[in-house]
Amino acid sequence: MNNFVFQNPTKLIFGKGQIARLSKELPKDKKILVTFGGGSVKRNGVYEQVAKALEGFDYLEFWGIEPNPKVETLRKAVELCKSEGVEFIVAVGGGSTLDGTKLIAAAAKVECDAWELVKNPSLYGGTLPFASVMTLPATGSEMNRGAVISNLSTGEKYSFYNTYPVFSILDPEATFSLPDFQVACGLADTFVHVMEQYLTIPDCSPLMDRWAEGIVQTIVEVAPKALSPERDYDTMATFMLSATMGLNGFVAMGVPQDWATHMIGHEITALTGTTHGQTLVMVLPGVMNVLREQKGAKIVQFGERVWGIKEGSTDERIDCTIEATEQFFRSLGLATRLSELSIGEDVVEEIVRRFKERGTLLGENANVDYRLVEQILRQRL
Ligand code: NZQ
Ligand code: ZN
Repeated sequence: MNNFVFQNPTKLIFGKGQIARLSKELPKDKKILVTFGGGSVKRNGVYEQVAKALEGFDYLEFWGIEPNPKVETLRKAVELCKSEGVEFIVAVGGGSTLDGTKLIAAAAKVECDAWELVKNPSLYGGTLPFASVMTLPATGSEMNRGAVISNLSTGEKYSFYNTYPVFSILDPEATFSLPDFQVACGLADTFVHVMEQYLTIPDCSPLMDRWAEGIVQTIVEVAPKALSPERDYDTMATFMLSATMGLNGFVAMGVPQDWATHMIGHEITALTGTTHGQTLVMVLPGVMNVLREQKGAKIVQFGERVWGIKEGSTDERIDCTIEATEQFFRSLGLATRLSELSIGEDVVEEIVRRFKERGTLLGENANVDYRLVEQILRQRL
């Protein structure tokens, strides 16, 4: 097991009716900005609950943070924070609203442009405190430091790191209005987050392995119910907590991480606008196959413990595990091949060109260069 330091300060407030607690958790003497996405919260009753909890507070609203939040939109909120003297921000919506808010909160504290801050973390100069009411289980953004920000004019999508949310409120009832496609993408995103922290070098931490396998098994178990027409509270609650636990550092203690699938997926989104979780399930089977030698022992362990694959040669077991993983993604109603979404060679070539130009090395061994990225993507056409 590697050395590690673990500290996650986010206060997690979970359950039915908990949005009302905003009135207790938010600072009464500070000017607050409430950020939103495109309006789903107006249709599912979340906005009403937030507005009620905020009665008597001094607050402003900022609407329109889009999926894969664009810096062009976020700059407007940064201006608002500066001109209005905002002191605390609360994001209400999915991962994109919260990710965008993480950048707004940091960019409000510096003179440089928000995109410069994304590209050059050394410009970071602190943050406005921020919190969230999360309506979509997927990113784990409610309990981590990460944000992923897009630039419309350059077609780029990069990670940015701020501090943790002060608190996050998760009411599973807020997820009942999610379209099946977003549920499927959220299940897939959670699954792949755990895999990026698990499918690396064997025997680093049996404890992390079991926790990771436990989250993936839970996602596999709840998936059919989460996607059934009747949204059931306990199912969505389990899914929601799994998503948080999948990317809040709990399964990452002392173990190596990969993130190749995500880095490739982000480029697919940047170039085609494809939804995040959907990109991941097209890439992961390719990563498993191309890296079958270095990841073999872990793939076999995963196949045995999660899919019950116990027989055959190592190669056969790896093949069966990749097949079972892809079948699970298909059972969510997602495409697992780029061509199914009309993503062709031109996109693959541009992604490979970008990785070559940047000299990026991905994977737990930092050995996944642009040539391996090309192999991975060509297998998924
Ligand atoms: O914008 P509104 O109208 O709110 O609608 C959203 C959006 O259209 C809708 N939605 C959200 N909650 C809903 C709902 N519709 C009905 N009922 C609800 N309860 O769903 C759509 C997608 O929302 P979005 O926030 O984009 O989804 P998600 O939470 O999956 O976030 C995706 C973004 O997070 C990044 C991704 O790259 C992508 O940009 N990620 C962030 C991470 C992090 N911060 O740690 C890690 C992830 O790997 C990921 O990269
Ligand atoms: Zn993700």
